[in-house]
Amino acid sequence: MIALSSIAKPVYLDIKNSAFGLRQALLSHSGMTEGIVSAKRDLRELGCITSPSFTAMARSWGNESYAVDFNFIDTLGRYLMERRPRTVLETGSGLSTIILSIYGAVLGFQTVALEHGKLWQLAASKELARNKELLGEAEVLHRPLVDFGRYKWFDIRGGELPSSIDFVLCDGPQATTKGGRSGLIPNVRDRLSHDALVIMDDGARPGEQALAKSWCADYGLSMLSYYDRGRGTIVLSAPRH
Ligand SMILES: C[S@@+](CC[C@H](N)C(=O)[O-])C[C@H]1O[C@@H](n2cnc3c(N)ncnc32)[C@H](O)[C@@H]1O
Repeated sequence: MIALSSIAKPVYLDIKNSAFGLRQALLSHSGMTEGIVSAKRDLRELGCITSPSFTAMARSWGNESYAVDFNFIDTLGRYLMERRPRTVLETGSGLSTIILSIYGAVLGFQTVALEHGKLWQLAASKELARNKELLGEAEVLHRPLVDFGRYKWFDIRGGELPSSIDFVLCDGPQATTKGGRSGLIPNVRDRLSHDALVIMDDGARPGEQALAKSWCADYGLSMLSYYDRGRGTIVLSAPRH
């Protein structure tokens, strides 16, 4: 007789995550590749990714309610072009990782993304591998969340993060995580390079606004800008050493 526990297991899967996996498996990925080619052309010719190129990639990726939107990408791109970082850290992988690695191909930087969900790490890694020839160097590390007391954050004790980080895209872990994104600065501040930039999605949420203020008060970051478009984008600057 088959034990009930062995057949019941799939029921515990996150419904949204499994629906996304199924959708990804059924999708034609040509839309993503076409979007990447067109985004690279935009960057070379106009210095920014246009909305039609973004939309092609976003449609192919799906996951609209969690993935970054065009407002955020537009702001992110302007800062990447201006700052020209050599190393970029991302927390919370997905469509944003593909877009970072398009900028990485053009500007020559390396992206390292932290992701606690195995399914999401696989989805982004597969898309990066499929389009490897078109993209810059990028890696999505699967790092489970560990409890630090006041918050949960990625387990980076393995130590593969770059020793010097010029730019951070903060879009995870998701809001339902204990302490939200609070673990970012306490865990990476020693690696932030002189004047590094931290750009955070979902900046219109009171939790993200309070967090940005506390990073400024507790760790000496400065609030550089707030963009009140879409979900809101917060831009912070790390202290000059
Ligand atoms: C805001 S999402 C990150 C989105 C990513 N930056 C993008 O552009 O696709 C933060 C985290 O939520 C999780 N996540 C993403 N999509 C999800 C979904 N549809 N349901 C549940 N969790 C999700 C992943 O672990 C992800 O790292």
